[in-house]
Amino acid sequence: MSNRTISGRTRLCGVIGDPIEHTMSPAIHNAAFAKIGLDYWYVPFRVRKEELRQAIDGMRGLNIRGLNVTIPHKVAVIPFLDELDPLAEKIGAVNTIANDDGVLTGYNTDASGFLQALLERGIEPKGKEIAILGAGGASRAIAFILAERGAHLVILNRRLERVEKLAGRLSLIFSREVKVLELVEENLEGVLQSADILVNTTSVGMSPDINETPVPSKLLRPGLVVFDTVYNPMKTRLLRKAEAAGAKTVSGVDMFVWQGALAFERWTGIKAPLELMREVVIKQLKAHEK
Ligand code: ATR
Repeated sequence: MSNRTISGRTRLCGVIGDPIEHTMSPAIHNAAFAKIGLDYWYVPFRVRKEELRQAIDGMRGLNIRGLNVTIPHKVAVIPFLDELDPLAEKIGAVNTIANDDGVLTGYNTDASGFLQALLERGIEPKGKEIAILGAGGASRAIAFILAERGAHLVILNRRLERVEKLAGRLSLIFSREVKVLELVEENLEGVLQSADILVNTTSVGMSPDINETPVPSKLLRPGLVVFDTVYNPMKTRLLRKAEAAGAKTVSGVDMFVWQGALAFERWTGIKAPLELMREVVIKQLKAHEK
């Protein structure tokens, strides 16, 4: 990567968020651009909430090819775009913008990245019973793509009123029942007896609270697929206990890599070097965990 040069033809991509210091997106995208020999660079931009409009105007003015959008701008950015992909519109959140000759289109590759992470393991969610823990932004993206794919959803959350709101939107858009429950052990016990897939979207177990888990280990069993969207640490306590119980596990690393790969493909029109991107993320996380 060190011998890459910037020319008059270099195209720019990046990520906007606040804070942005810890993003791994520049590492995966620049490694991918270098590997393929594309004349693109990817940079982080700290954008404050009050300056989001100017940032998007800047994307137009400077003809920036693509941006990823992270906390706290995923919802607020929508009014500043020209077009929305139908899935991003349903979800009501955008994590990727493509600039096609001044027309800005918003996508949600968090959702499609989650689905790809399952499909690449041969796990098809259609018709499956899926328990989602959490009702925040990540849960919303995942719940919408799973509902669209034809999965049966049960969403459990600490605060019931929040999850009721999410389920209400899902039921309205997809005309299918979405069950909601408070996230407590006895409800989990009932749900996990019949669920095919468990997805954790809560922050429970995230560094530095690595000894926490949202699910008591005794409820984990073979035949269950356990997907943890937390990727820091790479192997959360939930994933370790699931593996020990004989369950199949999928890490949040895969979702992160896929959301990046799908954005890369939209901007460049070229297939992303997925394995390289995964290696870069794993290397960074390992260095961080030391
Ligand atoms: P994200 O965008 O990553 O989904 P978020 O919108 O802040 O982040 O949502 C965090 C989720 O983790 C929420 O579902 C939150 O539950 P509440 O809606 O009840 O707040 C959940 N969460 C965070 N800490 C938790 C904890 N200690 N126990 C259970 N759930 C927790």
